[in-house]
Amino acid sequence: GTGHAGSRSRAGASGDLAKKKTFPALYHLFDQGFIQSGEVHIFGYARSNLSDDGLRERIRGYLKGAPEEDLSEFLQLIKYVSGSYDNGDGFGKLNKAISEYEASSKSESYRRLFYLALPPSVYPSVCKMIRTYCMNPSSHPGWTRVIVEKPFGKDLDSAEELSAQLGELFEEHQLYRIDHYLGKELVQNLLVLRFANRLFLPLWNRDNIDNIQIVFREDFGTEGRGGYFDQYGIIRDIIQNHLLQVFCLVAMEKPVSLKPEHIRDEKVKVLQSVNPINIEEVVLGQYDGYKDDPTVPDDSNTPTFASVVLRVHNERWEGVPFILKAGKALNSRKAEVRVQFKDVPGDIFKCKKQGRNEFVIRLQPSEAMYVKLTVKKPGLEMATEQSELDLSYGMRYQNVKIPEAYERLILDTIRGDQQHFVRRDELKAAWQIFTPLLHDIDDGKLKAVPYQPGSRGPKEADELSARVGYVQTHGYIWIPPTLA
Ligand code: BG6
Repeated sequence: GTGHAGSRSRAGASGDLAKKKTFPALYHLFDQGFIQSGEVHIFGYARSNLSDDGLRERIRGYLKGAPEEDLSEFLQLIKYVSGSYDNGDGFGKLNKAISEYEASSKSESYRRLFYLALPPSVYPSVCKMIRTYCMNPSSHPGWTRVIVEKPFGKDLDSAEELSAQLGELFEEHQLYRIDHYLGKELVQNLLVLRFANRLFLPLWNRDNIDNIQIVFREDFGTEGRGGYFDQYGIIRDIIQNHLLQVFCLVAMEKPVSLKPEHIRDEKVKVLQSVNPINIEEVVLGQYDGYKDDPTVPDDSNTPTFASVVLRVHNERWEGVPFILKAGKALNSRKAEVRVQFKDVPGDIFKCKKQGRNEFVIRLQPSEAMYVKLTVKKPGLEMATEQSELDLSYGMRYQNVKIPEAYERLILDTIRGDQQHFVRRDELKAAWQIFTPLLHDIDDGKLKAVPYQPGSRGPKEADELSARVGYVQTHGYIWIPPTLA
């Protein structure tokens, strides 16, 4: 059984999440044969009064373009059960529906996966209901697993409280804290790049790298979710989770092996090595017009943009700033990691003027990685210019379909692989880094400066990057190649 359908009023963005992400991901898994009729059944659960067909029609609206035959076969796997999030009647009904299906199926092991696309305020009660009414009966081989979505709390204390509540009901190996950035193709590539290439191994440290940026930009605002967003802000929405996960993979030491626990051990270690954030190295912004949303209070200080410098206190990274930057309503939509190398010592080409070497991993859109380097400008003159080694996935991997993050992560939960999910101690370490800053913002000690929607964000952020060492190359711009 999985999920939550509709009910925008209560669930806000999470009703959207189910329709926009969860069900389409399930459909794509079905379409590729990873889940099959006769093996899988999907139960949508929510408070709204809806028939099975009512839910199916809603989902259909988000699967435009899917071949009708496949689609209707998929939709037949879906049933709807309505009930509240905190009383036994509904969950009793849900359990009955699941059990009936299991009894009618030929499968010997019963596997129950619950996807909580819900506001976290109802996690404890829903988990309690699942624990009480919906567990795979111990007389059957199989399992019960629960997927939860961020936000996991608002700060260290509330997150720990939530973790403790869930921890009383489920074992860590049953809990899948999803961070969909960990399902993105180029995020999953980071460890391979770093640890399977001799080229990068000796360079990946303070001796060669000057600074690293991890950047998220969106070219739209908080349309329609201002009420949710205002409670959280860009740091809790993007930086403390998505960008910090990317940071871990860029900065961590090599794990002992690829076992999920070994990888997550290293992530925890590097998080614990992060120094307390210095508020002199933080810039917050809020775009003009954000407060026009009727669900946002007129005096809101919630940042829709933030640039935060993290400093890692260890042998590899001492002195190298990691600039984590995220913003809504900016001039472009992209997410990337930008590793900037130091200047060439004893430079005879005056390449300093050309700009520094950079290794850029573009997570989205148009997955790519490229290395900016100085070359001789082709021609009779001995002049140099910036060019690039370019691995653009659209060119290099033509006809390969890159799976959606949610598709991959849901498949992982079915297979029982927790590598790309956030462990409890990892979450705690992440909150430890950001909680003092978040409290300062909540208390109004740090103000968000206004910026124009459609701009690069506050100029103070560019000044901060320059102050900690980032050198912007003027005049160079990488143009993603397109297929002719
Ligand atoms: C979500 C945030 O987690 O990630 C949204 O809540 C944001 O605010 C979204 O828009 C971005 O995801 P993606 O995959 O489009 O980069």
